[in-house]
Amino acid sequence: METPSKPIKSLAVLCSGGDSSGMNPAIRSVVRTAIGLGIDIYGIHQGYTGLLEGNIEKLSLSSVSNIIQRGGTILDTSRCLDFHNAEVRQEAAHLLARKHIDGLIVIGGNGSFTGAMNLNKEHDFPVIGIPATIDNDISGTQYTIGFNTAVQTAIEAVDKIRDTASAHSRTFLVEVMGRTASSIALQVGLCTGAEQVVLSNQAVDYQAIVDNINKGKARGKTSSIIIVAEGEKAGLSYQIKDTLQAQYSLGVHVCILGHIQRGGSPTAIDRTIASKMGYAAVHALYEGNHAHVTAFNNGDVQIVPLSDCLGKKTDISEESQLKLIRALAI
Ligand code: F6P
Repeated sequence: METPSKPIKSLAVLCSGGDSSGMNPAIRSVVRTAIGLGIDIYGIHQGYTGLLEGNIEKLSLSSVSNIIQRGGTILDTSRCLDFHNAEVRQEAAHLLARKHIDGLIVIGGNGSFTGAMNLNKEHDFPVIGIPATIDNDISGTQYTIGFNTAVQTAIEAVDKIRDTASAHSRTFLVEVMGRTASSIALQVGLCTGAEQVVLSNQAVDYQAIVDNINKGKARGKTSSIIIVAEGEKAGLSYQIKDTLQAQYSLGVHVCILGHIQRGGSPTAIDRTIASKMGYAAVHALYEGNHAHVTAFNNGDVQIVPLSDCLGKKTDISEESQLKLIRALAI
């Protein structure tokens, strides 16, 4: 444990980047833990943008009442491109100093953590990250808040699509979020018994898609669900649909699940991990860990250096997950 250079008397918390279900339980935990330790706690609205605008309010125990079950974030969020700029970060550091805030808790993804890391390096400002994104793609942590809720929402949607696909003997391409990460697609594919999963980091094997559908038909299957990982930009499914139609005369339907995956009441897993991470974040800063992340590894929350969590995670189990999905979809 590092020795605190200055006792923490006052902290601020913000959400940054795409929201994810579980941010509210994390905020609740941060606020209640801080107040329990006698620390003043401030909420910054709209992420780094709100920080620069001074959109800051002192939070009380009741500010976070009745939010553990709510999706979104009571603090709102933003993607603040200006925070890439060192002068802007200096302004932020001055603002935090003027408000007598001794440390900042950033709930978000690795882009948001990079901003926090720079603030720490350039201004020796204590920061801690709480990993939260539905994509589950941050290096250094096996889990990010919101992933389980997003997967659950997508599973429920695919189950419904399965009903109509089956009633009409149709093939559906169901596109899930996750940007270039495959975690949502793989877990949804496995849990919905999808016939196939198309990952955005691999070339689409059209012949394999068609062969698989034909093989299914030969054994009496009338419908198929293909989960598509969206990739850099939503809409990949429409390209696949057009190619299947043009080159293989195969008609398919497309359903892009989109932002429905970001909202909704957090699952028990997200509420639990968010509550643990919020508590750990405040304690970490209080105990003098000044540039860290509350990672979830090997079944529990641990404090790891922020520098471990700035990149995208490489999912080494991708191939084995695909293998399992294929093995069960014969
Ligand atoms: O990073 C989270 C995420 O939901 C991705 O899965 C998705 O591609 C992206 O954000 C969408 O971002 P926005 O809501 O800004 O369009």
